[in-house]
Amino acid sequence: MKRAKANDSTGSQRIPVPEEAGETSSDVPDIGVAEIDDGHHRLITHYRTLLRMVKRDHDPHKFALMYHIFIQRMRRHFEREDRFMEEIGYDDCDHHRLLHRKLMRDAEDFLVDLVRRNDKAEAVAVTTYLEHCMINHTTTHDRKIGEFLASRVWPT
Ligand SMILES: [Fe+2]
Ligand SMILES: [Fe+2]
Repeated sequence: MKRAKANDSTGSQRIPVPEEAGETSSDVPDIGVAEIDDGHHRLITHYRTLLRMVKRDHDPHKFALMYHIFIQRMRRHFEREDRFMEEIGYDDCDHHRLLHRKLMRDAEDFLVDLVRRNDKAEAVAVTTYLEHCMINHTTTHDRKIGEFLASRVWPT
């Protein structure tokens, strides 16, 4: 079934959600918690869809909507991760939460700026940069959650 061009009941073109196309991301490191790892893969896949979209044809309205959907997903992921850290008694929980808040603030500021300026080159640069920030956060900070959990299960 061809979903990418599906129209909604109002006749307007619907924005495809990345996983509908069966996309996955394999170059995000797993931290060993299935629910969180799955969230990371989905977020990165979503980023890349945004990037492809903005490179292909920069429709500022479509892009802003897709970016907004992405930000909502990012917020839900961070809330889930915050709860998980608390549940396992993660010792760097407060600091990690601050990092989530900063990433959210940056992502929201970028959206406001992109809508205001409506510049394709900047939209590509910002989307690429955000993907880098997200992978860096996962590789550097989320990875430590997995290590903390492993040390609790298999203390040295
Ligand atoms: Fe995460
Ligand atoms: Fe995180």
